[in-house]
Amino acid sequence: QTKVGKTSLIMSLVSEEFPDVVPYKVEEITIPADVTPERVPTHIVDYSEAEQTDEQLYQEISKASVICIVYSVNNKKVPLILVGNKSDLVEHSCMDTILPIMNKYIEIETCVECSAKSLKNISELFYYAQKAVLHPTGPLYCLDQKE
Ligand code: GTP
Repeated sequence: QTKVGKTSLIMSLVSEEFPDVVPYKVEEITIPADVTPERVPTHIVDYSEAEQTDEQLYQEISKASVICIVYSVNNKKVPLILVGNKSDLVEHSCMDTILPIMNKYIEIETCVECSAKSLKNISELFYYAQKAVLHPTGPLYCLDQKE
C-alpha cells in the first residue's frame, strides 16, 4: 500500500527518531548481527510504488526471507474475503485453521473454500464479495469507536 509509513518505519529504526522528511524509498541497509535481538544480520529492503515497477517488487519478494505487509490503522478498511482455492486437492476442510485468523481480523468479512477445477463454491465466492460491499458487517464490530 502507498503512504502507510514503510519508509518512515525503516528510518525511525535506524535513527531512533521520526523523520520529518521522507524520501519515496530508502537505500537497502544491513543491520549488523550484534545490535539485533536474535543476533542475526538483517538486510532491510524498502519498496516504493512511485519509483518501482511491479516486476521489481516481485523480484524483491522472491529474494526475501520475510515480507512485512504494512497498513495504516486509520485507513478505511476494505472488506477482505479469504478464498481457499483448490479444495479439490484435499479430502477435508481447512476451515479450522482459518477461523482463528478470521476472529482476529475484523476486516475479514468471510472465508470460503472453493475449487475452480471442480466448480465448487464459485458463484458463492462472488456472492460473498458482493455481500461484503452491500452489507459490510465490519462497522458493527468496530472496537475503536465507542458508539
Ligand atoms: P510510499 O512512498 O507510498 O512507499 O510510502 P511509505 O509507505 O514508505 O510511507 P512514508 O514513510 O513515506 O510515510 C507516509 C506519510 O505517513 C508521511 O507523511 C509520514 O510522515 C507519515 N507517517 C509515517 N509513519 C507514521 C506514523 O507512525 N504516524 C503518523 N502519524 N504518521 C506517519
